[in-house]
Amino acid sequence: MKDILQELEGRREAARQGGGERRIAAQHSKGKLTARERIELLLDEGSFEEFDMFVRHRCTDFGMEAERPAGDGVVTGWGTVNGRMVYVFSQDFTVFGGSLSETHAEKICKIMDMAVQNGAPVIGLNDSGGARIQEGVASLAGYAEVFQRNIMASGVVPQISVIMGPCAGGAVYSPAMTDFIFMVRDSSYMFVTGPDVVKTVTNEIVTAEELGGAKTHTSKSSVADGAFADDVEAMMEVRRLVDFLPASNRERPPVRPFFDDPARVEPSLDTLIPDNPNQPYDMKELILKLSDESDFYEIQEDFAKNIITGFIRLEGSTVGVVANQPMVLAGCLDIDSSRKAARFVRFCDAFEIPILTLVDVPGFLPGTGQEYGGVIKHGAKLLFAYGEATVPKVTVITRKAYGGAYDVMASKHLRGDFNYAWPTAEIAVMGAKGATEILYRSELGDKDKIAQRTKDYEERFANPFVAAEKGFIDEVIMPHSTRQRICRAFASLRGKKLQNPWKKHDNIPL
Ligand code: HXC
Repeated sequence: MKDILQELEGRREAARQGGGERRIAAQHSKGKLTARERIELLLDEGSFEEFDMFVRHRCTDFGMEAERPAGDGVVTGWGTVNGRMVYVFSQDFTVFGGSLSETHAEKICKIMDMAVQNGAPVIGLNDSGGARIQEGVASLAGYAEVFQRNIMASGVVPQISVIMGPCAGGAVYSPAMTDFIFMVRDSSYMFVTGPDVVKTVTNEIVTAEELGGAKTHTSKSSVADGAFADDVEAMMEVRRLVDFLPASNRERPPVRPFFDDPARVEPSLDTLIPDNPNQPYDMKELILKLSDESDFYEIQEDFAKNIITGFIRLEGSTVGVVANQPMVLAGCLDIDSSRKAARFVRFCDAFEIPILTLVDVPGFLPGTGQEYGGVIKHGAKLLFAYGEATVPKVTVITRKAYGGAYDVMASKHLRGDFNYAWPTAEIAVMGAKGATEILYRSELGDKDKIAQRTKDYEERFANPFVAAEKGFIDEVIMPHSTRQRICRAFASLRGKKLQNPWKKHDNIPL
């Protein structure tokens, strides 16, 4: 009996060694942790339960039968994050460069199937040279099996990808179909075709970092939702995100203990809006002042900064926030911001996370660049996402809500549940100057007359009361009482039940 126990321990120890000491040292020398070290940081201490530690590949080509390490380049299993279950796979770059074989894929598929069945998020730690070259089509088949599961799990359990090394070729498409992608600065990259192929085909000379590093994907392509300094920070931040999310679409988001009075009054908000309507202010200040303990988890912080998306808590419950940012492009909606916010709204709706919308939007950004780029379709994504969302929706207009953008930003007409405005709100088809220049074109030569017309228009429309008279605004609220008002609003909506008509699926403009 003792021998058998010893043999088990010996086999386990060998599996834990992955690709061996030399390769582990090489991994560390690049500033990267091993697959197991990452899991240890990600999960609560001692909570990891491993599956398939002894799985080996079945390849017999290219002398592979002689090298069959236990585990086959990926560590899989489940554990807890602050006591809540998650499934995890962590690719082991020290074993065949973390490349994906048929059996490696089977291990990932097994935990994905369990995650969907048992209702818990899947966290994938990606560090891989891509398809296991020795296995050919078997490896491609393995990828496709994972892809299919990503698609089926979408909207059922949250899926989080962390890119912690190479992720190239078709391998990028599994993370691309998950809910969130995070990258580690300087040690991770993602691209469909690498710098060498790019040079051959297009003559462009570009480094791997420029082509697909964290900066590129968080600020230019918007493929990634965030970037972290190193593996340790990445694991800590993923834990923080998991705390905001429900385990599946069958459960509500967790309610955390909170130490912030829901009725907290914020007198400073009464002077947040500058007297000059063209002067910006920082919408993030408002978000932080409204949220429990000023805790805000921002998504896509470095992309389309004219809109802010992320998670806060109100009375301990998760709320998704979408807010125009007057500091960037005056808070205009454009292609990038519409896409960014639409995807966020759809994530919230899929997982029953209520949405708070803070509005200060002068309209859609004009220009050929926008029109040629399809702002009509991209803007429609956000409109569609808000209109189809059945979660509780609370909207606060702080200043401008002009034109189509007023409609888009969770207006009453898109089934907003509570539509509040500050007294500083201006709800109109457009700004007063633009409006008078169109309405009184023939008087444009007379500056005084036009100034009077502009003033008249402002007096009529540069306020929330015309909309409030029509019931499009439920109430005009004091800025200092906003936290209390929105907390009460969301509390009153906890029992909300709203269903869209049956359909196979919708046809959101893509
Ligand atoms: C098998 C691989 C491998 C792979 C790396 N290795 N990639 N083994 N299949 N795809 C092995 C290496 O042989 C080496 O083994 C170890 O992993 C570490 O690799 P190095 O090259 O020494 O590391 P590094 O210098 O850090 O370079 C990492 C790398 C490079 C940039 C990822 O290995 C690389 O270019 N690999 C090939 C990438 C690739 O073309 N993959 C296929 C893409 S097509 P030893 O024994 O020396 O430690 C694809 C299609 C997917 O993925 C389609 C899905 C639909």
